[in-house]
Amino acid sequence: MTPARIGYIQYKPEFGDRTGNLARLEALCRQAAPADLLVLPELAATGYEFLSPAEVRPLAEPFGDGPTFDLCGRLARELNATLVAGYPESAGERLYNAAFVALPDGTFANYRKIHLFSREKELFSPGDAPPLVVETPLGRIGVMICFDWLFPETAHSLAIRGARILCHPSNLVLPGFCQKAMLGRCIENRVFAVTANRWGVEERVGRRLRFTGLSQVVDPRGNVLLAAPEEADHLGVVEIDPALADDKQVTEHNHLFADRRPDLYEGLG
Ligand code: ACM
Repeated sequence: MTPARIGYIQYKPEFGDRTGNLARLEALCRQAAPADLLVLPELAATGYEFLSPAEVRPLAEPFGDGPTFDLCGRLARELNATLVAGYPESAGERLYNAAFVALPDGTFANYRKIHLFSREKELFSPGDAPPLVVETPLGRIGVMICFDWLFPETAHSLAIRGARILCHPSNLVLPGFCQKAMLGRCIENRVFAVTANRWGVEERVGRRLRFTGLSQVVDPRGNVLLAAPEEADHLGVVEIDPALADDKQVTEHNHLFADRRPDLYEGLG
């Protein structure tokens, strides 16, 4: 076994204060080290409830170029860790709810959320590329963002392409549904999952959004290895053997992927 330390940063960003939020994230990541993989929340440094695309734009960063990339790229190299963080991406006229992987060698990979939640559809374009699988020092990891959890094909697509760990930056608001569902995603795909949620309340568009905390690390048997409280900053780092996710043999006679019957799953697109 080559052990790896993986975990999440749960905290409460202040809406719009990217500079202050990045300073807090830097302190939290340094506190969580040593770690091989740290997952940060969706839109980790900006807050969530934007009024309009025009309000997103000044806080959006082109992929690979901006203060969130500067910090996470530096931390990934210094701490020798892979970091995954959500951010608002600007690409020409378009805005995406995206997440990047910052690798210890100083390179980045990008994922644009494909299942936009609620008012996000008024702010962002949906991603049009498959969920991201990236080769890292821990083996392959997969990236999905928050509401992607409700579409099991997302996690399945990552696992079937070799992801051992689902990295899941989140700003969850539905009460505990996702945290429960991720146990199933891990069992049905035999993978680890790190869901990094935020906590706190935002009230900016005439509705009160309460983010549910309860970040967690789940193993391929659906065991919760670590869980955060609902309403507090929390760093969760746990030692795992990532290679456990490579064993898809459920019984002597059953292989999780070889036994699939896609020819009979009528109605799936
Ligand atoms: C969500 O996708 N932020 C609920």
